[in-house]
Amino acid sequence: MSRKGRLLRVDNPTPPDLDRCIGQSRLAILRGLMDGQAAARCWDLPYLRQVIGARPVSVVQQDEPRLVWHPSSGLPVRQVPFDRFAEAAFVRKDAGYAYLQDDVNNIPGLDDDYRLPAIVAEKEIVRTKVWLSGPGLITPLHYDPVETLHWMIRGSKRFLCYPPGLGRYYPYPFRSRAPFISRVDPDHPDPARYPRFQAVRPIEILVEEGEVLYLPAYYWHQVYSERPVNISLNFVWFTSAWKSLRFLPQFLRTRRHVARGLAHVQAARSQRARDGAPGARALPPPAAPGRASEGAAVSQYRVGDFKAPRQEVSRLARQAQLLAVREREALLAVGFPSQGVGIDVGCGPGFFAEGLRRALPALELFGLDIDPYVLREARGRLPVARGEATALPFAEGRLDFACCRLFLRHVTDPARVLGVIGGLVKPGGFVGAIDASDASLLLDPMPADFATVAAARREWFTLRGCSADVGHRLPDLFVHAGIGAVAVRRVVVDSATIGREAFAQIVLVPFLQAAESVLGDPARHAAAACAVEEWTRDRAAHGAITVFVVGGRRG
Ligand SMILES: C[S@@+](CC[C@H](N)C(=O)[O-])C[C@H]1O[C@@H](n2cnc3c(N)ncnc32)[C@H](O)[C@@H]1O
Repeated sequence: MSRKGRLLRVDNPTPPDLDRCIGQSRLAILRGLMDGQAAARCWDLPYLRQVIGARPVSVVQQDEPRLVWHPSSGLPVRQVPFDRFAEAAFVRKDAGYAYLQDDVNNIPGLDDDYRLPAIVAEKEIVRTKVWLSGPGLITPLHYDPVETLHWMIRGSKRFLCYPPGLGRYYPYPFRSRAPFISRVDPDHPDPARYPRFQAVRPIEILVEEGEVLYLPAYYWHQVYSERPVNISLNFVWFTSAWKSLRFLPQFLRTRRHVARGLAHVQAARSQRARDGAPGARALPPPAAPGRASEGAAVSQYRVGDFKAPRQEVSRLARQAQLLAVREREALLAVGFPSQGVGIDVGCGPGFFAEGLRRALPALELFGLDIDPYVLREARGRLPVARGEATALPFAEGRLDFACCRLFLRHVTDPARVLGVIGGLVKPGGFVGAIDASDASLLLDPMPADFATVAAARREWFTLRGCSADVGHRLPDLFVHAGIGAVAVRRVVVDSATIGREAFAQIVLVPFLQAAESVLGDPARHAAAACAVEEWTRDRAAHGAITVFVVGGRRG
């Protein structure tokens, strides 16, 4: 890596190179990344005319070189036959300035010409956009709430980039259609109207043919098309919740865009599921987690470590769905706010958080988890970050609320962790936790050998320094963590209400899962699983467990 000012130049970047740039919000020119791709060889005007022909594409057409993003109507995008656009923009040159900017998936025939670079293989690309412009065209100063790789396939573009911020850039009003567009034109800055803009200095970057610009989320940029023909593709993906929290005022201005992006991801996922793509098939019933490997005895619960992780995800989905309404009512009763910015710590695949966001749309909810497997699942439901809850790198006291569900049972020092979580919220902000206690489980009758299973599960938790009897202790833990005004509600989950089969899946199966590795006796474990199955068929059987919903205020 060579470094000049705040711009890095990286030849043949690796995924860690990109992750470093993302983590440091460092602009970078990446070279060698897209060499050899078909688009690099064949995309030019004649080729695009041949492939796209008269198909309609999204075009912005204006008289002025600097596009106008109107605060009340947005950008005037029209559908125009590609050949008409090409004729007007590049042959007759009589129609002002025209910019093709379309999702590449809307233009059949182009997506065979490129592959996603390996360095973004792990990112969930939410949009790949193709851009085509003549010389002189200028995109006004704006920022995007996503991470971007901008690949210059033909021609070149000059980027004037400015670090994240808000007040110095004079964006259009929050509730306008252009809250992420600056009113300042850096070429004519008008210091009398926009004095604070004088304090910022741009980084000027020429992105040449074949190069890829990494543009960090929330960086402001004004872009100039330099050559007679400029063709580029950009790949965008959601930034981490860390970054969005760091640049919170900018995130909040673009939350509707982020929500639309999330909807796009969800639609694409559903489509993949309908197409029967791998990983999206109907899920078989739950199975046990993988046996703890040697040296992993003190590792915590991680869905990604299960033998059948998708089955565990589907169990969590069912559990969250069955309890959602009553838990939410209880949470609201103990002071959970209906608006504000907050975090769900140990969010897992995000089903609980998704329910909260749906029911309380004014919430800005981020998720945090340590397990990359569940985060891949959660990403389509809410903005998430990977992190260890015992060492959160957030600034103290910035959030309106923080909560966690079925999470404190998986940490060794829940009072300390609760203190760390509580430290994230403003003084007077809300802290909430939901957890059950194994000790509150009632089974009548008890399935054969279940006492052994319960003891093995207790040992599973003890070996990891944790306890599944955390629910009834939550009020005490809150007090120890310095959280005041503690309120408690109980939600009794019973087989009569949700059905014995559902009760067995969401409550008893985890007992069997945890016990398997401790028992170390497959035959005994199989017999215990059969006994639970019989129990579900016994019309006289009844089961209940208590979930504790606790809320308080940071002092
Ligand atoms: C039982 S799941 C609960 C998931 C979700 N809250 C729900 O209610 O469905 C517990 C989650 O806590 C996460 N977790 C455990 N220890 C963690 C830690 N130290 N830091 C962050 N997340 C952790 C696990 O990866 C897992 O996703």
